[in-house]
Amino acid sequence: MGNYICSKCRGPAVFRMRHHRLAFCQPHYLEWFIDQTARVIEKYHMFAPTDRILVAVSGGKDSLALWDVLWRLGYSVDGLYINLGISSEDDDYSNESQDYAEDFANQNGLKLHVVDIPQQYGESIPQFAARSQRGRIKPCGVCGLIKRHVMNRVARDEGYDVLTTAHNLDDEAAVLMGNAMTWQVDLLQRQYPVLPAEDGFTRKVKPFCRFYERETAAYSLLRGIEYEEDECPFSIGSKQLAYKDLLNKMEENTPGIKMNFYASFLNARSAGYFIPHNQADNEQSRELNKCPICGQPTASEDACAFCRLVKAG
Ligand code: AMP
Ligand code: FES
Ligand code: ZN
Ligand code: ZN
Repeated sequence: MGNYICSKCRGPAVFRMRHHRLAFCQPHYLEWFIDQTARVIEKYHMFAPTDRILVAVSGGKDSLALWDVLWRLGYSVDGLYINLGISSEDDDYSNESQDYAEDFANQNGLKLHVVDIPQQYGESIPQFAARSQRGRIKPCGVCGLIKRHVMNRVARDEGYDVLTTAHNLDDEAAVLMGNAMTWQVDLLQRQYPVLPAEDGFTRKVKPFCRFYERETAAYSLLRGIEYEEDECPFSIGSKQLAYKDLLNKMEENTPGIKMNFYASFLNARSAGYFIPHNQADNEQSRELNKCPICGQPTASEDACAFCRLVKAG
């Protein structure tokens, strides 16, 4: 790449980050990336060295990079892959993604839990969605509900201290843009790199929330991790992708603007700007009941949304 030199050893650089005014050779980029992850974990008090960690892996670049970095940092970290039963004519998306997650686990001697949704619940995500969404085509809402339920169930049943996902800065900034457009104060309040454990909910953390997507991609490429390159076929045309495109265009003109948007929000949030008025006295208060079927916490008086969805099949 051009004539850039490594900020650390002055050798030829292979990756440059304009917003950080840094460029690195391969070994120094890998080192920098691991170091930055460790800093974020420390800054937000995400987990302790003795915690048992469950990382949710999709088979893509971000989550395999996260698993790789966490075990290199010496954490006890197992993986969870959820097979959603998604495929299209020319792309066996869910099964291929599972292969990448399994290969990574086998190559590094790591433990991977697999939950196969069609096998366990009799229907794939698109089938669940077709039944429950009254004609709306995209299954992403149902998919999110099922993933959240399964992740929490496995983390809780298997006794993990913390559940981690690989949401990156591009993901977080796009979600933030969506929430800010309609001033969803309750969602803004809950958008944070750490969600503490609540009764029945495992602690959730996002150690990659300050990495640009191209930085996690560069880590996986330079580390030689093989991953599923295709996106979920249902993500095409989603609002989230549209926000990502918009933010990328802004970033081209003003390097660093995406980070600034997200980091300034976190500062404002910490200063108390997004505490809903009726919760101002007790930031975390949410009325939660226990689902009579699965035992997971729910705002519903009756069965949780997941159990209602499965039962209606
Ligand atoms: P997404 O909801 O697809 O934007 O993914 C956000 C995060 O959820 C990823 O970074 C992964 O950590 C996790 N994740 C996504 N899909 C799966 C899956 N099929 N199985 C397990 N974890 C997943
Ligand atoms: Fe869930 Fe695409 S990954 S609908
Ligand atoms: Zn170097
Ligand atoms: Zn339930």
